[in-house]
Amino acid sequence: MKKVALSVMAVLMLFSCQNDNNSELETQESAAITQRKCATQDVLEAQLREDPTLALRMNQIEDFTKKAMLTGRIVNGKVEIPVIVNVLYRTSSENISDAQIQSQIDVLNDDYNASNDDFSQVPSVFSGIKANVGITFVLEAINRKSTTKTSWGTNDKMKKTSQGGIAPTSPTTKLNMWVCTIGGGILGYAQFPGGSSSTDGVAIDAKYFGVSGTANYPYNLGRTATHEVGHWMNLRHIWGDANCGSDLVSDTPTHNDANYGVPTYPHYSTCTGTPVEMTMNYMDYTDDRGMFMFSNGQKSRMAAIFVSGGARSGFGS
Ligand code: ARG
Ligand code: ZN
Ligand code: CA
Repeated sequence: MKKVALSVMAVLMLFSCQNDNNSELETQESAAITQRKCATQDVLEAQLREDPTLALRMNQIEDFTKKAMLTGRIVNGKVEIPVIVNVLYRTSSENISDAQIQSQIDVLNDDYNASNDDFSQVPSVFSGIKANVGITFVLEAINRKSTTKTSWGTNDKMKKTSQGGIAPTSPTTKLNMWVCTIGGGILGYAQFPGGSSSTDGVAIDAKYFGVSGTANYPYNLGRTATHEVGHWMNLRHIWGDANCGSDLVSDTPTHNDANYGVPTYPHYSTCTGTPVEMTMNYMDYTDDRGMFMFSNGQKSRMAAIFVSGGARSGFGS
């Protein structure tokens, strides 16, 4: 109770009307002007008396605003992710160009803002749940390091200076991406929220990064990074990594298994309810040209990690 009362006070103190002390207005205009109090304040006070929870909500807005101003990363209410790209190369083709790196950032911005060309190809059964995630990515720095390693594997060696790799830059406030030869037919891998910050980020093989240069068909449309960043924002594979498994998202259909290539539509699941599978989802395993949407349920799952107290709250919101 006492806390609520203090919160009400705090909110009330935030509001003051500038008109009261405007002497120029007072002299130039009638006395009625001086008596005019800002109604905002009276209305607010009445509302606060009627509804004590209003103060709590307003305090939350204040917290949000403070945080947004601190990080400077909320733009028009959207989360903006600064990106650091760490390139490890032995051969000159592994040392991909700035242009190829920027092409990957552009794909992320398209795919996470429903501005990808193929978004319109989402079948009508899913048109009500196809999402504009509304997260933007800004390339902040490119770090390059020459190495003698022919492949890096999936044990985070590329993230460790002691192993010849590059340590992440400010991983709690920036998305680190490592571009290198991974090997073993692996396109890329990500770390889910909750892992050690010293290894946080995504690793993508140079042959599947961006849309130009060394980007290799059928993984030459930058969707490996779209998929990996989805994991980094807490999304699971759409088939839940098990036959008829759960991806913890309610609006995505239950899939039998991973789909490859570009499945013919409609592809039916044999799981409960035999739904049409959402094979065009970024969190399936199809070729790059076969994946072009996130769902609204996936969007809320991603948004949840950025709120105050969320696993990636350092990024804003
Ligand atoms: N195999 C990788 C993973 O599970 C990436 C798959 C990406 N698929 C693609 N079409 N680019 O994280
Ligand atoms: Zn994956
Ligand atoms: Ca699901």
